Amino acid sequence: MSSTFYVTTPIYYVNDKPHIGHAYTTVLADVLARYHRAAGDDVWFLTGTDEHGQKVQKAAEKNGMTPIQQCDSTVVRFQELWKRLGITNDDFIRTTEDRHKKIVQAILQDLFDRDLIYKAEYKGYYCVACERFFTEKDLLEGNLCPDCQRPVDTIVESNYFFRMSNYQDWLIQYITEHPDFIQPAFRANETLGFLRKPLEDLCISRPKSRLSWGIELPFDRDYVCYVWFDALINYISAIGYGADQARFERYWTSCMHLIGKDILTTHSVYWPTMLRAIGLPMPKTIFAHGWWLTGSRKMSKSLGNVVNPMDMADKYGVDAFRYFLLAAMTPGNDASFTEEDFLQRFNTDLANDLGNLLSRVVKLSIKNFGGTLPTPPPLQPLEMELLSKAALAIKQLENELNSMKLDRGIAAVMNVVREANKFLERTAPWTLAKEGKTDRLAAVLYTAAKTLEIVSGLLFPIMPEKMTLLRRSLGLSEEEIAKTDFASLSEFANGDMRRTMVDMPPLFPRIQIEKPEEAAPAKPEKQKKQEIKAPKTKDVVVPEGMVTIEQFFKTQLRTARVLEAERIEGKTRLLHLKVDLGNGDVRSLVAGIAQQYAPEDVIGKTIVVVANLMPAKIAGFESCGMLLAAKNETSLKLVTVDGGDAEPGLQVG
Ligand code: MSP
Repeated sequence: MSSTFYVTTPIYYVNDKPHIGHAYTTVLADVLARYHRAAGDDVWFLTGTDEHGQKVQKAAEKNGMTPIQQCDSTVVRFQELWKRLGITNDDFIRTTEDRHKKIVQAILQDLFDRDLIYKAEYKGYYCVACERFFTEKDLLEGNLCPDCQRPVDTIVESNYFFRMSNYQDWLIQYITEHPDFIQPAFRANETLGFLRKPLEDLCISRPKSRLSWGIELPFDRDYVCYVWFDALINYISAIGYGADQARFERYWTSCMHLIGKDILTTHSVYWPTMLRAIGLPMPKTIFAHGWWLTGSRKMSKSLGNVVNPMDMADKYGVDAFRYFLLAAMTPGNDASFTEEDFLQRFNTDLANDLGNLLSRVVKLSIKNFGGTLPTPPPLQPLEMELLSKAALAIKQLENELNSMKLDRGIAAVMNVVREANKFLERTAPWTLAKEGKTDRLAAVLYTAAKTLEIVSGLLFPIMPEKMTLLRRSLGLSEEEIAKTDFASLSEFANGDMRRTMVDMPPLFPRIQIEKPEEAAPAKPEKQKKQEIKAPKTKDVVVPEGMVTIEQFFKTQLRTARVLEAERIEGKTRLLHLKVDLGNGDVRSLVAGIAQQYAPEDVIGKTIVVVANLMPAKIAGFESCGMLLAAKNETSLKLVTVDGGDAEPGLQVG
């Protein structure tokens, strides 16, 4: 039976344009929503903007606009970005909309009427950047905000307070009894740690004399509502609380709030106590992810290292960017972003592994069978093994998704892609074709194509555009392309391949990494700041003929054991080798050593190979790597490893 899944992102402040942190949470929510929809669940996906408060008012003043003009001009940047990134939100809430303001005011009035909101004199320390009050004991070094470490303002005034302290014991008990409520578990512990100190009442008003941009308190027109009290309510106002009760009840208790770690307390303490006071059940989960850093440094405007998601999508494509965000961050922990890492992952995972697999399978199928594979003979163990690895990846991804370890799920899927490439190396369909072994060739291509069908289905919610193209190229119908639920993918064994594959341009054309001397001409200062920090190698002047250590290590040298070797007919200089690079990475490699070494001389040797060389076809054989040899015009000696018994796969360098 399908279930209900309501997923939310934080609503983003409209004081500035979106950055990679915003993009990450929204893409994560989108991917979860797509997986649930594929499973047939009743999904509601909400995002939106947080438009009141001091930050927005200040930005408006700075930009010479009214606050609502500031909101209207910035909200489109978010909406355009979500459209560009293929985000499938069902609703977009702006806190300046009437549907939201009405509910906030109704809740305020109700809590005031029930004496859960009261007026009192207040002395506090206020951080404008974080829009939060702190007590003296919270401050760092006497006057610094504990979150952003900026100096706080001291404020004495009459204000309205929500009796948050009433709920301290209840909240501790609730968190303790619901271990999945706040995730990852260490964030639940962090919240319980916070709750060890007495919980104070929450100041929920701002006098208009100080801040006018907010929702007016219905019981005192001299005040507006504190922006966080207003903002958190979006999660219920948007799905119909107080307006469309049936819709609200349908979705609310299945809710998963995705947030960044810096807004944990507002979500894990303020929000549950507010809901409790209103008389509502809790959302199912609050999941706090970590931060994207630039290299190892915090992203900040002042450092000029903030990554602009729109630029990334324009430069490298939407799907590759979505893939990187999800594959490179373990949800919960911080992750590092550099353009160098991005390019590396793009070229390895997407261009070399996935893109190549598709192009090999489709090209060979078209060349040998006009694109329509015949029903294969019974599959052999190697083939069954690959298909069972693909089936296992379905389970792995499902499990990792359920425990919010999407990066690990993706890694399991990409591992199958690599296995499929190795499978092609081992079964060598190009040789089967040459030898006229049509039956075996059909079985090998069938197995690889089925694997691709499963893999592309699993990756579909992450890269919907590219996986649509891939599945179309495999010959799937439009209806089949979108059928990506785990159960259907698991039924792969029953499907035949009476489909016609079609060739297409490379799915992920390899990106040439700019060499330092080819760096673009200097850009104006302002433009430079918005760009992603360039790889370190661009910052140094490298004398001609020299390389930096980073450049050197781009070449991956690894030990490899020669498993098989044979002469190639008509080629006196070449040997065709099968080499083992450890961890099951067995490759075909062609080397120009036949005049110095007989096949039996090299079998068993541990040699050194360039592991990340672009594969090439030499004398009809795939050559995936290059072995190292010391040579001049008359002699050639293989580079081997001291003692000769080193295990395969060791890094050399
Ligand atoms: N308006 C509030 C949220 C109210 S929700 C009821 C807010 N907005 S925000 O625009 O400042 O931040 C939104 C989200 O971006 C937060 O979850 C925050 O953690 C996240 N990020 C900000 N910088 C980030 C990174 N560098 N990396 C990842 N996420 C980061 O807070």
